[in-house]
Amino acid sequence: MSTPDPAAARADHEVVAGRFSTLGAGVLILAVVAVVTGVVLLPFYSATAEGAHRSVVAMQASLPLRFLQGVHHWASALLIVLGAALLVYGLFTHAYRRPLGWAWVALVGLLQLFVAFQLTGHLLPWDTHAVSSAAIELGIAENVPVIGPMQARLLRGGGDAVSPKTLTTWYVAHVALLPLALVALAALYVAQVRRAGHERLWQRCRRVVLATLAVVLVLGLAVPAPLGPVATPADYTSYSAPPEWYVLALHTLLNLAQRLRPDLAFLGTVVIPGLAIAWLLLLPWLDRRRAGEPCSTSVRGLAVLGVVGGVVATLMGADHMAALVGTRKAPPPAQSQGGPATVQLDPALVRNGKAVYDKNGCAGCHKIAGQGNSVGPPLDGVGTRQPDLDWQIRHLKNPAAVVKGSTMPPYKQLSEADLKALATYLLSLR
Ligand code: HEC
Repeated sequence: MSTPDPAAARADHEVVAGRFSTLGAGVLILAVVAVVTGVVLLPFYSATAEGAHRSVVAMQASLPLRFLQGVHHWASALLIVLGAALLVYGLFTHAYRRPLGWAWVALVGLLQLFVAFQLTGHLLPWDTHAVSSAAIELGIAENVPVIGPMQARLLRGGGDAVSPKTLTTWYVAHVALLPLALVALAALYVAQVRRAGHERLWQRCRRVVLATLAVVLVLGLAVPAPLGPVATPADYTSYSAPPEWYVLALHTLLNLAQRLRPDLAFLGTVVIPGLAIAWLLLLPWLDRRRAGEPCSTSVRGLAVLGVVGGVVATLMGADHMAALVGTRKAPPPAQSQGGPATVQLDPALVRNGKAVYDKNGCAGCHKIAGQGNSVGPPLDGVGTRQPDLDWQIRHLKNPAAVVKGSTMPPYKQLSEADLKALATYLLSLR
């Protein structure tokens, strides 16, 4: 094998590093737009359960504020898309190698921050979709072994379910804690890129910056951020929100892990993404070659695996996805007509149903009277919320066909008799 010409390799790397920092400028300008619009909107927003939704409705009624909110919404969405694109580009071109190692670490951190901004910001309008999504996310956090319950409590702002305290907690994170981290990581990124000899950033990146700005301004003007009906306390324990586009891959991983065993959901939601992030963060030290040296096949292989896996997982979840735009409609009322709640339940069936419940690991995801896990909603009172035996049976056989976006596994394999007993037991939980 001939040794590569070091001068040519260095020139190649110059091009890569130049492109990497140019794309990075697109990401940074979006972050600036998101921060500036966020700061301007701040005085118009009220972070209380009574005021939040009303203040967002008022924003959307005023043209300039609706525009700003739209820009804020789309800038934060594009941050994730462009940030991920930059990461993939950097992976395939080895932009993570020295001298850009720390710039790479900052970028991986920034991408996680962008997702954290999305998740917390999504709760702020306090509509039904926002609150149910938070209930699902907190259930996922609680399902992590050992630290789960404590971490979920902290994230909820205390208590056992989503509550107005959760709104305050996420609001503080969204407008104070996360922005501090954003400033620190962005400063690290810029300093490292400049140190690597890419100082005249503005001249090099003017076109990317202007194009990015144009896209968010047009989107903000043309497509307002979606908003659903105001949340009620019933949404605090409703786990039926269809997933947003940026969590579709996680949604699929969650489903796959649950199929192994319900209480292993955290393998899909925490362990696999955690390993991927750890690998990305350590990459500059795992592949210690200098910029311009030959590419590493193992890094390329894992990168291809990660990208293909991410795309496939996203597509697999796509049929459940929440609408990207438009007004979000209220979910159909849970209560069915007629008053089956007054019907007498056969105590023998209730007892058999309880046995079917115990045997099929439902407690791996549901709490009854405080016993069990919180991947799904607590089932106390489900006989009042869903008093229809047929609904219960249809839901058990195929949850996703009844509740859009449901991640509960289907129980088609149960016999009709078991299904009926189980559904009767559920109706007894009033
Ligand atoms: C892997 C986790 C998981 C397992 C296991 C699971 N569920 Fe669920 N369940 C969910 C989720 C998530 C929801 C919320 C979405 C929905 O309503 O389908 C849910 C919803 C429900 C609801 C509707 C609750 C309401 O308030 O509307 C009932 C009833 C229910 N499950 C019963 C059961 C029974 C009975 C079993 C065992 C045979 C079971 N579930 C097993 C995750 C699970």
